[in-house]
Amino acid sequence: MFKKEFATILFIIILFFTGCKNHQVNRPETSIELKQNYTEPHRPQFHFSPAAHWMNDPNGMVFLDGEYHLFYQYYPDSTVWGPMHWGHAVSRDMVHWEHLPIALYPDSLGYIFSGSAVIDKGNTSGLGVDGKDPMIAIFTQHNPVLEKAGSAVFQYQSIAYSNDHGRTFTKYKGNPVIRNPGIRDFRDPKVRWHDESHSWILTLAAYDKVMFYASPDLIHWKHTGDFGIKEDKRLWECPDLFPLKVKGADEFKWVLTTSIQQQAPNGGTGTSYFIGEFDGKTFKGDSKNQKWFDYGTDNYAMVTWSNAPDGRTLALGWMSNWLYAQKVPTDKWRSAMTLPRELELQKQGDDYYITSMPVKELRTIDSVSDTLNPANFSRSPIPMKISPLAKLHIVFKSPEDGKISLHFTNDKNESMDLGYDAVSKKYFIDRSHSGISDFDPDFAKIHYAPSLYPKDTIDLLIYLDHASVELFADQGSTVMTDIFFPKVPFDQVELISASGTVRIFGEITGLKRIWR
Ligand code: FRU
Repeated sequence: MFKKEFATILFIIILFFTGCKNHQVNRPETSIELKQNYTEPHRPQFHFSPAAHWMNDPNGMVFLDGEYHLFYQYYPDSTVWGPMHWGHAVSRDMVHWEHLPIALYPDSLGYIFSGSAVIDKGNTSGLGVDGKDPMIAIFTQHNPVLEKAGSAVFQYQSIAYSNDHGRTFTKYKGNPVIRNPGIRDFRDPKVRWHDESHSWILTLAAYDKVMFYASPDLIHWKHTGDFGIKEDKRLWECPDLFPLKVKGADEFKWVLTTSIQQQAPNGGTGTSYFIGEFDGKTFKGDSKNQKWFDYGTDNYAMVTWSNAPDGRTLALGWMSNWLYAQKVPTDKWRSAMTLPRELELQKQGDDYYITSMPVKELRTIDSVSDTLNPANFSRSPIPMKISPLAKLHIVFKSPEDGKISLHFTNDKNESMDLGYDAVSKKYFIDRSHSGISDFDPDFAKIHYAPSLYPKDTIDLLIYLDHASVELFADQGSTVMTDIFFPKVPFDQVELISASGTVRIFGEITGLKRIWR
């Protein structure tokens, strides 16, 4: 997506003619943007989205003193990708968000691409003041001037520090801190502290692999190892590395995540992971055992919060896909984040896999619940009216064959189907009749996801917002996130069983919007 020729040329002109520095301009439109009330068609009501303009990856997710920080790839001058900044928002519960001014602006070294943030405990960098630990942002700078000049080394890593809870950042004067060794795609640093080696560890996407670096102080970095899949030349982006304890056992494994730019399970971009070991220098794991966090088309660049409280592993991703992200039919802003999720590691035989479930804090938006009494049905007699913002929890015994589906509809005869196919043992989301889709030929499709370890009981937890659905099947073992654009929100649902009568247990809960 770097062939944004127009934006690039424009930016080069600005760079040359304005001698662009670290300009922390107070944009006049910011206050106007922040006042709008999130009621446009297709505006997510309980997902984070920017007040206006273009957003992609979550960046710099870090927890400090009760606040979850969410920085994000942001272009404040348009609803398509352009010279990247870091937008900024904070939340006390990962659900309700307060927008803050742009945190990082492009400078003479380039655009501000994706990266991470850490709390520098013990002030190893020396960039803290008054004995306090600074917040350090580590990000890629993408230099459009060098790119245009045909150089292969136009991406490198820089840092910035904040001593006021992320409200303002100062760029480090010795940037970049990691120079480019000659790799065209060399970006998206994610940093964590590694106790055993007493050093900071940085993972970096380098075209088709992840490179590992170590540092005592977040400033001086040494390359320590690489991990990739032999013979797989897809582009990797936005890696992450973290340990997880196996649920119910006294065993720890390391997880290496990487977002893949092409050929995710249902097309386009998606977030994958490997389970293995990390020795302070490099990751070792079975590169053939690549798994996916989410089989829907709309969860990219998912990464975890640094310094998360209570030993939790919390993550969210960009709820879109590079296949069509810049063309989706929203006017004022483009794209949202997925719901925040808590990750856990499960062991099945010799295999490990991660479950992701919506964070418990989301219960604060629960409104009125209706219980579906255990009911035997083959097709519900009439569509049930539901809140267009809803959580549905549906449990049933897997039939021998046939499909069980939830058919969501609206008064415009548009629909979205979601369910389980007992023959193929796959979950599916069908958005082929879900509304506006003419912006991209690949949008109106059915997406499938395997049931990893099929069970007798099927358990579906579904979050429905105005323009998205998230399915957490079998307690988060299989997850699917899809966006869609109905003319009016889906507010009716029918339960349909293709294989005769099925006994269903369920609960449907209306949800409150998060924007006040
Ligand atoms: C992933 C990505 C990153 C890059 C950023 C640019 O979506 O391509 O690799 O840093 O977006 O906006």
